[in-house]
Amino acid sequence: MSNNRVSRRQFLSYTLTGVGGFMAAGMLMPMVRFAIDPVLQNHGGGDFVETSLKVADITEEPTKVDFTFEQLDAWYKSDVTNVAWVYKSGDKIIALSPVCKHLGCMVDWNADSGHPEQFFCPCHAGRYTKDGGNVAGTPPLGPLDEYDVQEKDGLLLIGPTKANTLVKK
Ligand code: FES
Repeated sequence: MSNNRVSRRQFLSYTLTGVGGFMAAGMLMPMVRFAIDPVLQNHGGGDFVETSLKVADITEEPTKVDFTFEQLDAWYKSDVTNVAWVYKSGDKIIALSPVCKHLGCMVDWNADSGHPEQFFCPCHAGRYTKDGGNVAGTPPLGPLDEYDVQEKDGLLLIGPTKANTLVKK
């Protein structure tokens, strides 16, 4: 017979420690899971957002297009509405960001009667050409950003912004 006999006291102590450990893990695991859940979420690809604009209806005149997408900020989900100025240049669909490169106001198309056929920023009279190029002598120092675009089932999809590729440097 072995001399390493477990006393009743030791047996109870080991058993209670084990059960306590399991109970603690059972309580902590959901908390840990909740804390890191946003990191574990698979958000998939597909950063493109469907708009209600039919590609066939896009003309050479810039049109303001609203699009809404769900934004997840850690645990908080909210609907965000964004805007693009969309037009056709030949067969190419152009979608420009409305965010002025000076201090972030929203530009408008053809809003300044003194400078027609341009994007106009009402905050400090910034101006941009149709391709988003900033007009020299006005406050913005860079061109409007562009959105990636796609077509699906005849509708326009708008993706992430990128640096303007239309303006010659
Ligand atoms: S924010 Fe547009 S010109 Fe200043």
